[in-house]
Amino acid sequence: MSKLSICCLGAGYVGGPTMAMIAAKCPDIKVTVTDPNEARIVAWNTDQLPVYEPGLDKVVASARGKNLFFSTDVKGAIKAADIIFVCVGTPTKTQGVGAGRAADLKYIEAAARMIAEVAEGPKIIVEKSTIPVRTASSMLTILRSNSKNGTFQVLSNPEFLAEGTAVADLENPDRVLIGGEQTPEGLAAMEKVVSIYARWVPREKILTTNLWSSELSKLVANAFLAQRISSINAISGLCEATGADVDEVARAIGSDSRIGAKFLKASVGFGGSCFQKDILDLVYLCEHFGLPEVAAYWESVVKMNDWQKSRFSARIVNDLFSTVSGKHIAILGFAFKKDTNDTRETAAISVCHNLLKEGAKVVVYDPRVPEAQIRSDVLGSEKNPNLVVVKSALEACQGAHAVAVLTEWDEFKGLDFKKIHEAMYKPAFLFDGRNILPHAKLKEMGFRVFAIGKTV
Ligand code: NAD
Ligand code: UDX
Repeated sequence: MSKLSICCLGAGYVGGPTMAMIAAKCPDIKVTVTDPNEARIVAWNTDQLPVYEPGLDKVVASARGKNLFFSTDVKGAIKAADIIFVCVGTPTKTQGVGAGRAADLKYIEAAARMIAEVAEGPKIIVEKSTIPVRTASSMLTILRSNSKNGTFQVLSNPEFLAEGTAVADLENPDRVLIGGEQTPEGLAAMEKVVSIYARWVPREKILTTNLWSSELSKLVANAFLAQRISSINAISGLCEATGADVDEVARAIGSDSRIGAKFLKASVGFGGSCFQKDILDLVYLCEHFGLPEVAAYWESVVKMNDWQKSRFSARIVNDLFSTVSGKHIAILGFAFKKDTNDTRETAAISVCHNLLKEGAKVVVYDPRVPEAQIRSDVLGSEKNPNLVVVKSALEACQGAHAVAVLTEWDEFKGLDFKKIHEAMYKPAFLFDGRNILPHAKLKEMGFRVFAIGKTV
């Protein structure tokens, strides 16, 4: 019997880690991850992987060159594969109908057209990208009306990994979701993909549904998660106004097993490539299907997040005697969360941007994000001498008027704040956008401390 062969289109944050895990768990399956982006493929073939995830290097090293391959030969890999995972990007549209809300499906459509062009024989196409509900129907139409020699089943298998914990999430997922056509061929294709995951995921955690439930569940899962953060962030404003402490409130409500303790950490605002994009897509879909009240309900989650980000930078300006012009603000952390080098939609972008607009000198330190990325995120291609990127937290704080913690990197908890206080202008302000620092102690040292949802 010939070896099962899998190909993946897209070697990004999802394609790379998920395929590496499948290869590591299934040594008898050949897995080829493809991407037209040559630099990305070259990096996947070195020890400097393009995606930083704790533990990922070990997973990749265990299979690369044996049954895991990274290649720019997208067409060759499609031809050779029995199962094709589509892990391409689905960003928010920037122009045309639905701009600013709807998902841009140009990479999905291009992938489907390429598969139709080169595929021969039976292929299972697995949507792993997050897409609007009913995308599988468009894919099937493109595939079936363009292919000469291929026959296709399209499945939905959304990915629920979170960045920073991708390896643990893939190794031990809460669930794997697989949706397919409820026909004998569709069910057989689903069983084939189920049997891959079943090598390491308990069967009862592998859920099978119809195509549309699976596609929609991904958008809904992200909307519910983000909604919890916006809910607690909304309450953080009320805590600051009343003397309640948002972490105490979160603990009190999270102890109710019906509410649960996770995703109740108030912050400077959620970031990442998924939450905002997927909620806006959900909003667009609701409008499209004539449900404006439902659309408005979900849109408020994004609006609340925008408010949380902008009120943080406004608070810095306000506390620094209503002007930051010419003042040095140290930014600790730029990634959208700890343990990742990803900066997409990070709250740090809007905070830095707002402070620069106010004339501040913004000095950024992040342990994983390179300077070029920070510059391009905040300034586009412009040069601005008021944005400085440095190589340590202490260097960022040297001569600062204020320090703002924007990512919850563990190393910030162990900083020598006495030394930092000495190195700063007085009064020395500290804005903890992640509530990770010992606020009372810092106050004793002489800092003026602002924390989200607390009176310090
Ligand atoms: P990404 O931008 O990191 O990677 C996508 C890659 O696809 C790019 O490298 C691009 O060059 C490549 N690509 C585009 N067209 C291609 C083609 N025809 N053939 C081969 N490769 C092609 O994106 P990502 O973060 O990996 O996200 C991918 C999808 O997964 C999105 O729909 C996203 O919403 C979803 N998702 C992301 C996460 C996450 O944590 N990042 C989690 C769950 C789901
Ligand atoms: C999210 C989903 O969690 C994941 O299931 C999906 O597959 C992709 O989108 P991700 O964006 O990688 O994952 O990270 P996540 O841990 O969800 O954090 C998203 C943002 O919310 C981060 O900026 C994080 O700092 C913030 N957050 C999270 C909070 O502000 N408070 C919390 O309690 C939790």
